[in-house]
Amino acid sequence: MFNPFFIQQYGGPEYFCDRQDEINRLISIATNHRSVVLHSMRRLGKTGLIQHLQYILKTEHHYKTVYIDVLDSYSDESFVAQLVSACAQQLFDEQATMIAKVGKFFSRYKPKFSFDTLTGNPNVELEINTKTDVDLSLETIFRLLNESKQPIHIAIDEFQQIAQYEKPSRIDATLRKYLAQTKQVQVLFSGSQRHLLLDLFNNPKKPMFASADHMELHEIPYTEYSEFITRMFEKDQRSIDERVVHQVLKWTKSHTFYTQSVCNRLYAIPKSTIEEVDLLKVQDQIMKEYEMTYLSYKNILSTNQYRVLKSIAKESQVRSVRAKDFSGRYGIASSTAQQSLDYLVDKELVYEKLDDKGSLYFVYDLFLARWLESVEH
Ligand SMILES: Nc1ncnc2c1ncn2[C@@H]1O[C@H](COP(=O)(O)OP(=O)(O)OP(=O)(O)O)[C@@H](O)[C@H]1O
Ligand SMILES: [Mg+2]
Repeated sequence: MFNPFFIQQYGGPEYFCDRQDEINRLISIATNHRSVVLHSMRRLGKTGLIQHLQYILKTEHHYKTVYIDVLDSYSDESFVAQLVSACAQQLFDEQATMIAKVGKFFSRYKPKFSFDTLTGNPNVELEINTKTDVDLSLETIFRLLNESKQPIHIAIDEFQQIAQYEKPSRIDATLRKYLAQTKQVQVLFSGSQRHLLLDLFNNPKKPMFASADHMELHEIPYTEYSEFITRMFEKDQRSIDERVVHQVLKWTKSHTFYTQSVCNRLYAIPKSTIEEVDLLKVQDQIMKEYEMTYLSYKNILSTNQYRVLKSIAKESQVRSVRAKDFSGRYGIASSTAQQSLDYLVDKELVYEKLDDKGSLYFVYDLFLARWLESVEH
């Protein structure tokens, strides 16, 4: 059975819900030679959106596209090794040409070729070890990119990682220099750690300051998501009760990953019509599955931190934990409530959303929030 609700990767345009406005804006940004920084809460759909965008740029706008996720990079050298090899792999259509050209232009970095056992696609690994290697290999790859007949779109996912390198990174300054000189290459930077990512682009002391458009991703609108869910069932001559779709979106707050997860499990139930009892079963199954992980938070957190976490889940969202009636209601020591909240935000257990009224706090992992809400202790 083919499940149309993808939860681990982009499944192609047919299985991708909406994001039309975002796609139009991102295409306009790329085709007008601008860079962009895309950010959002975790698991809301940044990577999926990037892959959908690059699919459209490739098929409808004749772009070459490069995607790298730099979460595992740890230095400028490792970042550039990844970027240069990903670009080199995309630049040349023919495998033999790619191998010959990489051998010619990047021989000093001892290229190692391997082939993906599933797709057969070639992979190049380069040894970039020094600051000179960083500068020279980037210069070479940008020269080759600029000579390309097709425009090139590069997406760098989890870009905030460069702020975490042991040695201060110069990647932002170096990339800015090359991007200022090219019309052929546009870059999309993406990530979810808002403070780190936006500091790279909003801090006047940093090289990337004011160099990119900003886009914050939000939840997919209710109407679009509910139509999508219904349509995915109908494709297979099945149906899902309208009220169930409504309850799903309410329970998941339309957050993409959690909605996809619930729908994926609903779809797996071998019935032609999905009803309320099926949703109850799925919710129960999810809560049971995560229970051990969630119980462990009780041991990891102090009593006060756990109570703050639980009280935020019970309230769904809070503006402050300092109010006396709030701490009283949940037995929280009010003197350390703020300290506990700061800890939970730092550990990404609670998300701090900024709006025109200030900060709004809610439990980051929605399934954890639903579990905390439902337990007594
Ligand atoms: N518009 C969409 N329609 C259908 N599925 C989507 C959509 N956007 C994302 N998804 C799916 O939801 C899941 C989570 O999305 P994704 O990984 O893109 O989120 P993310 O914001 O990159 O998360 P993270 O912050 O953890 O990197 C993925 O399996 C993805 O394919
Ligand atoms: Mg992602």
